[in-house]
Amino acid sequence: MSKEYVPADYTEMDILKAKRFDKEVRKNFMPAIESTVKQIIEDYGVLDGVCVEVGCGTAIFAIELCKHSKLTIYALEKEKAIYEIARMNIEEAQLSDRINLVLGDAHNLPFDDEFADFVISRGAYHCWKDKVYVLKEIYRVLKKGGIGFVGGGFGRYVTDEELNRMKSLRDRSLKEDAQIYNSPDKMREIVLKADIPNFRILYDKTGLWAEIRK
Ligand SMILES: C[S@@+](CC[C@H](N)C(=O)[O-])C[C@H]1O[C@@H](n2cnc3c(N)ncnc32)[C@H](O)[C@@H]1O
Repeated sequence: MSKEYVPADYTEMDILKAKRFDKEVRKNFMPAIESTVKQIIEDYGVLDGVCVEVGCGTAIFAIELCKHSKLTIYALEKEKAIYEIARMNIEEAQLSDRINLVLGDAHNLPFDDEFADFVISRGAYHCWKDKVYVLKEIYRVLKKGGIGFVGGGFGRYVTDEELNRMKSLRDRSLKEDAQIYNSPDKMREIVLKADIPNFRILYDKTGLWAEIRK
């Protein structure tokens, strides 16, 4: 069995480790990033307005979403080393005018109430110490009429072969934390505890998401 994994000790990363994380994500998870963006655009239309991404990592997902939408994105990341690599990636993609990188914590989103038309968070949910609190924060910054899409997954356009490869790599990398992405009942409980009235839990072999409407 392969021992390969993608680094997931985000809080421990210096610049070198963050670079390795970026390289491994690009090498292994690009089909999932492209497929999830395609799914989002198909389901919600070519998005326009303000987007907040919570836990943007090295901004690979934000860059892909930006290229396929008209959004202005505020990409939030907590870890300084990862944030620095994200800054370089955004500059290299020449998208600094449309992606604003923000150093901050999901538990205290540095945005006004009803700031965002769309809030996306992919693959950061397992890290949050107080998931109910973060969901409340996401709901607070959503505009009325806005959509939140929170969870993790690979998108419906990956092949079965890609899906199986990426899923086992994710599970190996996140270890016991990966289990939360197979727990739709737990996610429903968390969203209800956050007092969010209008939502759906989407769970299939390609991922687990809370779709929130305000
Ligand atoms: C697996 S990466 C996902 C990156 C990107 N969203 C994607 O889909 O490729 C998760 C990121 O969330 C960040 N993160 C975890 N907890 C966070 C928090 N409380 N506030 C902000 N960012 C956080 C981690 O540092 C890490 O960079």
